[in-house]
Amino acid sequence: KRSICISTSGLRGCFDRNGHDHAGTAQKACGLQHRCRGKRKDHRAFLKAERMAVMTKIIDGKAISMQIKEEIKKEAASLKEQGKNVTLAVIQVGDNPASCVYVRNKKKGCEYIGIGSLSYELKEETTQEELLSLIRELNAREDVNGILVQLPLPAHIDEDTVIREIDPKKDVDGFHPQSVGALCIGQPGFVSCTPAGIIELLKRSGVSLEGKECVILGRSNIVGKPMALLMLRENATVTIAHSRTKNLAEVTKRADILIVAIGKPKMITREYVKEGAVVIDVGINRDQNNKLCGDVDFDDVAPLCSAITPVPGGVGPMTIAMLLNNCMESVRK
Ligand code: GUN
Repeated sequence: KRSICISTSGLRGCFDRNGHDHAGTAQKACGLQHRCRGKRKDHRAFLKAERMAVMTKIIDGKAISMQIKEEIKKEAASLKEQGKNVTLAVIQVGDNPASCVYVRNKKKGCEYIGIGSLSYELKEETTQEELLSLIRELNAREDVNGILVQLPLPAHIDEDTVIREIDPKKDVDGFHPQSVGALCIGQPGFVSCTPAGIIELLKRSGVSLEGKECVILGRSNIVGKPMALLMLRENATVTIAHSRTKNLAEVTKRADILIVAIGKPKMITREYVKEGAVVIDVGINRDQNNKLCGDVDFDDVAPLCSAITPVPGGVGPMTIAMLLNNCMESVRK
């Protein structure tokens, strides 16, 4: 049985008694409320957009990160009054274009909340020893609270050696083995900014993790592994899937909350997602038209889920907000 109905958004659509739409029938009957002009494709797009407007929450990372930055800004001003200044040292080696953008945004973030930033832009040919010596110098400086070495580093420098040289008390990226170990055994320490930002995004969007099936797609040291530990800390049931996982769609379809950090543009389509899931997209890629896109095919997946992050404007802004939060952490105690 098919019938024309007025949907919850007040727009006209065509659904059967089970709520399934029948675009072909609706095409003939509608036309008053939107401009499908009898085209099946346009009508389907209308129904999809309408369902999404009613059912799917778009998690606004930009707005939530602004909230956090405003909170930190106030705190930074009050600490300043007590004579406690915060300074982040940012080191970049070479001129990788993506790194230039990230580093610029990190420095702008410091400026916005009113903390100091020192910038070290080293040439591509910088030796590992020169970089280690700069880190030792910054470790010893009392006026520097946080040290961040932007990754990736040129191939002739060993990232692990460099990360290990940073004093764990100033490791605002949370990449030092001591910080990772502390997270693993539930002790205090700096936490990697992107996964910490995702937890904050979920909490501030009212998504509880307690007892939920969480699947993380990607096993990097920066996102996948710390993400798993943080979700475990929130009492979620956690699975890490990756490029070699068998029957991947079967695994990701179990997720109440799906975190995607696999680095493949628009890889995750609706076949990988359970209806009503919360989907968090960590990917930052360019599509064929050089437009920013995530690892999730947003248009395909969004109508199916209960909440989803967009790219840009989802996880990205949260990473910087959490970095600034980590910088503050070093003077809070
Ligand atoms: N490169 C990509 N993401 C990051 C990050 O969060 N921190 C640093 N230091 N380098 C990165």
